[in-house]
Amino acid sequence: MERGELLYEGKAKRVYRTDRPDRYLVEFKDEATAFDGKKRGTIADKGPLNNRISAYFFALLERAGIPTHYVETVGDREMLVQAVTIIPVEVVARNIVAGSLSKRLGLPEGTPLSQPVVEYYYKRDDLGDPMINCSHVVALGLATAEELHRMRELALQVNQVLKEHLEPKGIVLVDFKLEFGRVDGQIVVADEISPDTCRFWDRATGEKMDKDRFRRDLGGVTEAYTAVWRRLTGEEPDV
Ligand code: C5P
Repeated sequence: MERGELLYEGKAKRVYRTDRPDRYLVEFKDEATAFDGKKRGTIADKGPLNNRISAYFFALLERAGIPTHYVETVGDREMLVQAVTIIPVEVVARNIVAGSLSKRLGLPEGTPLSQPVVEYYYKRDDLGDPMINCSHVVALGLATAEELHRMRELALQVNQVLKEHLEPKGIVLVDFKLEFGRVDGQIVVADEISPDTCRFWDRATGEKMDKDRFRRDLGGVTEAYTAVWRRLTGEEPDV
């Protein structure tokens, strides 16, 4: 598959056109940012690890009947995806209080939520991705009411599938962020699902196995991402 025009460059990925109009190529970078780009760095092997971990989760979701943009892995840090139009709403699902929810509501990190919480953020780097509610999403024309309903339903399904899959592997799914795309009149899970976009805690030790290690200068970032792969597959990553 030929790599064509660069369509989009984000903090952690580049998206290219290909010689097929219905396929894009996603390249995962080692660069990491946090706090709306105020903190920057490079995490060794992050791109190849997130490429593998995302492919693993997309395949898992597809097997559970949840549509995703994933087509196939085509390189060490490259995956082929369906050419979708990204809906500019980041959907966060939470099982346990952490991060911004802890700050916003003054609740200690680790407080269990009695049911999953779903939040919406307007995907706008220049505004720092502000939190919005369902009526903002519809009134601003970011998605229709039907699309929003479907995104919420899919986010809760993804939560259930990931949580149940990770539990026997000793990983607690604290929260995660999804992006969705439109293709052929369907809403599909897009972007990535990786330790950059999820909070994973070791069930036995409570140790963080995700990007919070970078955000909070805890060290051992590559080791934590590698450990997620090892827990998922029982194998060492070939990166
Ligand atoms: O920072 P906050 O607590 O709101 O993050 C919730 C979840 O969404 C975390 O798993 C975080 O990694 C993810 N997230 C993300 N991209 C953002 C904001 C949050 O992947 N822009």
